[in-house]
Amino acid sequence: MMTNNSNAVAETYNYKVVKQFTVMTVIWGIVGMLVGVIIAAQLVWPQLNFDLPWLTYSRLRPLHTNAVIFAFGGSALMATSFYVVQRTCQVRLFSDKLAAFVFWGWTLVILLAAVTLPLGITTSKEYAELEWPIDILIAVVWVAYAIVFFGTILQRKVKHIYVANWFYGAFILTVAVLHIVNSAALPVTMTKSYSVYAGTVDAMVQWWYGHNAVGFFLTAGFLGIMYYFIPKQVGKPVYSYRLSVVHFWALISTYMWAGPHHLHYTALPDWTQSLGMAFSLILLAPSWGGMINGIMTLSGAWYKLRQDPILKFLVVSLSFYGMSTFEGPMMSIKTVNALSHYTDWTIGHVHSGALGWVALVSIGAMYFLIPKVFNREQMYSIKFMEMHFWISTLGIVLYIAAMWIAGVMQGLMWRAVNSDGTLTYSFVESLEATYPYYFVRLLGGLLFFSGMLLMAYNMYKTINGSPIRDKMPDLEGAESPLANPAVAGGQS
Ligand code: HEM
Ligand code: HEM
Repeated sequence: MMTNNSNAVAETYNYKVVKQFTVMTVIWGIVGMLVGVIIAAQLVWPQLNFDLPWLTYSRLRPLHTNAVIFAFGGSALMATSFYVVQRTCQVRLFSDKLAAFVFWGWTLVILLAAVTLPLGITTSKEYAELEWPIDILIAVVWVAYAIVFFGTILQRKVKHIYVANWFYGAFILTVAVLHIVNSAALPVTMTKSYSVYAGTVDAMVQWWYGHNAVGFFLTAGFLGIMYYFIPKQVGKPVYSYRLSVVHFWALISTYMWAGPHHLHYTALPDWTQSLGMAFSLILLAPSWGGMINGIMTLSGAWYKLRQDPILKFLVVSLSFYGMSTFEGPMMSIKTVNALSHYTDWTIGHVHSGALGWVALVSIGAMYFLIPKVFNREQMYSIKFMEMHFWISTLGIVLYIAAMWIAGVMQGLMWRAVNSDGTLTYSFVESLEATYPYYFVRLLGGLLFFSGMLLMAYNMYKTINGSPIRDKMPDLEGAESPLANPAVAGGQS
């Protein structure tokens, strides 16, 4: 019987941990974005902190970044990597117990972050704010994650290691190194530690970490998602397998050197700043290599985009990836950075990458995964998925356009001088001029957030009530677009 076949697939693979991370991706997405909406509102109406210390902007902002990057993004990466590694290696996860430990350990990390950050317990290193006991827990969970992932690869039944796994592998290894090196600290109490680095060296290590968190957490892992889910959803092999390999090595070897572009015009030696700028400019090429490879996979199948909301999410995410990886190298040019740094232009750049690329590609992958792992025919409502796509795209456009205009305006106002050398505008005047754009950003954020609520409802209805799938979920068999990557290289 067919239904038995799908049960057999469910038994062959460990879908439990994939289901857990899939559901939590949506839930953490809602939580993290809600905090984003709250801090966006606080920038318009500062009194919204109600004079409570744990609701102040300074404490909620790191809560937002940790929740969206590590809880939402991290869960999406763990859900998809555990799914993809099993499907492409055609073998069950290396260890069910360790996989369960990864899920519960990661959940504990997130809960500890949600308690400590509003309490003001922080190292104050951006994107690495959590204090040392939590850092140790992260390291332990991450090592378990690496063992499950690479252990599965070692036990694979297919000789070839599909390219998506290369990207996931690079993300897992690099994040381990970044986290351990950057978090090295001397604890003084359970909730307070001091970094072992000082001054300029601290700044350098911090932004080596920070930029590679962008490169490996927010980029390489999500490229892994792109390389599996786009060919699967289009039903065609990736455009060029050779390009995927070339841009993989180019991307990972270039990202490492670009960090100093976060520290232009600081006490960092001048040559390191120029080195960071040069490598950031080079980074445009491998980044666009990835984007082009993903988008060209649709050649001959563009018509599918019209009816398929999952493809819409995936392809538009790649367009935003291309846009933010063009903008980033431009912003790394020292003279451009002299204008953009400290302004909302940076925030616009961040969210064209974070909402446009990271969130959209994750949402597309989750819509693919939910019916697959819960064994349903399809999502409860395709119409809701369409609505979600348009609401979030509109939200992103409002968000980033507002921040670009505000950012360039701030940069120009701050550098304007009168003929006698005095400043033309006071800081408060630039702040006043920014308010309307903060309001538009809030509207954009609210739209994006409401799309996530629609997704949660759709997910709930799919899991509880949609018809059960009566055929076997497709295996990466001979007919799969990923079946024989050496041949499936398309144009290569
Ligand atoms: C070729 C690729 C990229 C390059 C060269 C690049 C370059 C830059 C530059 C120059 C800045 C401003 C630094 C400053 O003035 O402080 C920046 C900030 C940032 N970018 Fe990118 N970017 C790239 C892609 C991305 C992507 C795809 C994302 C997100 C998914 C992203 C996330 C960020 C974040 C979070 C910051 C703010 C960091 C902070 O100050 O907290 N970037 N990037
Ligand atoms: C409803 C959606 C969202 C809203 C309303 C929102 C809002 C905000 C706000 C108001 C800030 C502070 C900006 C500032 O300090 O001037 C911020 C920072 C940030 N957000 Fe979001 N956000 C959203 C979604 C996301 C997502 C999905 C990600 C990542 C996947 C993300 C990553 C970040 C990062 C990395 C920063 C720090 C930027 C920097 O320091 O340069 N946000 N967000």
